[in-house]
Amino acid sequence: MRRLSVYIEIKGTQVCVGEICGNTPEDAVFSYAKEYMEKQGAVPISLSLPFSDSAFSPARTKNFFEGLLPEGFTRRCVAEWMHVNEDDYLSILAGLGCECLGAVKIIEGENPPILPDYRKLTSEDVRNLAKEGATESAQLMTKSHLSLTGASGKAGLYYDEKENQWYLPIGDAPSTHIVKQSHIRLEGIVTNEQLCLLTASYLGIDTPDSFVVDTGEAGDGDVLFATKRYDRIMNAEPKLINQLPVPSRLHQEDFAQALGISSFHKYEHNQEGYLKKMFSLLRAFSSEPLTDQLKLWDICLFNYLIGNTDNHIKNLSLLYSQDLKGVRLAPAYDMVSTAIYESSTKEMALSVGGVYLLDRIERRHFEKEAQNAGLGVKLAMKRFDDMASGFEKALSRAAAFLTEQGFASAEEIQKRILQKGGIRYLRSETG
Ligand SMILES: Nc1ncnc2c1ncn2[C@@H]1O[C@H](COP(=O)(O)OP(=O)(O)O)[C@@H](O)[C@H]1O
Ligand SMILES: [Mg+2]
Repeated sequence: MRRLSVYIEIKGTQVCVGEICGNTPEDAVFSYAKEYMEKQGAVPISLSLPFSDSAFSPARTKNFFEGLLPEGFTRRCVAEWMHVNEDDYLSILAGLGCECLGAVKIIEGENPPILPDYRKLTSEDVRNLAKEGATESAQLMTKSHLSLTGASGKAGLYYDEKENQWYLPIGDAPSTHIVKQSHIRLEGIVTNEQLCLLTASYLGIDTPDSFVVDTGEAGDGDVLFATKRYDRIMNAEPKLINQLPVPSRLHQEDFAQALGISSFHKYEHNQEGYLKKMFSLLRAFSSEPLTDQLKLWDICLFNYLIGNTDNHIKNLSLLYSQDLKGVRLAPAYDMVSTAIYESSTKEMALSVGGVYLLDRIERRHFEKEAQNAGLGVKLAMKRFDDMASGFEKALSRAAAFLTEQGFASAEEIQKRILQKGGIRYLRSETG
């Protein structure tokens, strides 16, 4: 039987929390170690896995741990590099679990520890990463034993800001940035994401620092989207690897993991009421329930305005404090206008007031949703009106900023967002 030990980093120290035992995804079960549960102030690793003396079912185990792995095409590439079946989440986790999102680390019993290291990347390496697409980043993920969720091609890298130098983390060396590649079928996606995140930040939404890395002439094959990890922090006296300061890990879990829903069901299809569930979770567990509910609400409004129909429950997360005792809504990420692409679905991943189709959602549906989710309707709708009225100005400020930086396609994307995003319906409503 395979045994995978599960660790969590608490204030910079690795603590064993339990193990996953089994041979296949159908029989593998996670259980907490008694010693961990008995530790003073110990906290469960997920809201969906509260302390228990017995093992969790294979399904509950899989919902959380498979939720740490890449999805879609990236997952397929990683599985190929590793020579394992893409459904065999245990094998992939055993291979990539050294550095995940958040502070969890998975080590298979007999695997010798891989010494942590940061390997310098040449500008040629970074250019290749921008050029090569998901197969290249999947190879990097496999090489560095690092698991990042999501379907787009990406790598977790270490960035030395002062020297403008990128490194590939090896073993359990933490990355500082997530770097995403362009997508062959979604033109300008890197600029699109940076444009949307900048606009969001101008509208007061909490977003991580991000920037576009241009390795050539700002074409899709030249650029990468880099976002600074909010789940990595530099403490006052950090350890050094290769003379580079090593950040500590903060734990995070996405809402699919926290609600115990499999990645496969990250899109709502049958009125499961995911928004209501997320608001309830924040009310019950957030250290700042009122602030976080409004933050989540603002993100929902923003996704509608830009026309981001990929706003599923793995694109929203909870971030834990260093001692794991505090839980907050994580900063907003992966906000892209998908509506500007003809090939993208026009169905939002989460229903608003019972409606999925972007062009059917109106102001009144948000009113219904606010009521449904247990928010103060007056306040929620004031935020709706404020954000809608400030949106165009924030978007054009962000587009002007990016154009000045040399990303001229930002203006074209801005135009298409105004034609295709939810903002279009509001503009026509007010004449
Ligand atoms: N700045 C960040 N800091 C920490 N975690 C992040 C950050 N940005 C994204 N993530 C995490 O990485 C995952 C993948 O990133 P995402 O942008 O959603 O990629 P994709 O486009 O493949 O879905 C997210 O689900 C989120 O948990
Ligand atoms: Mg995502």
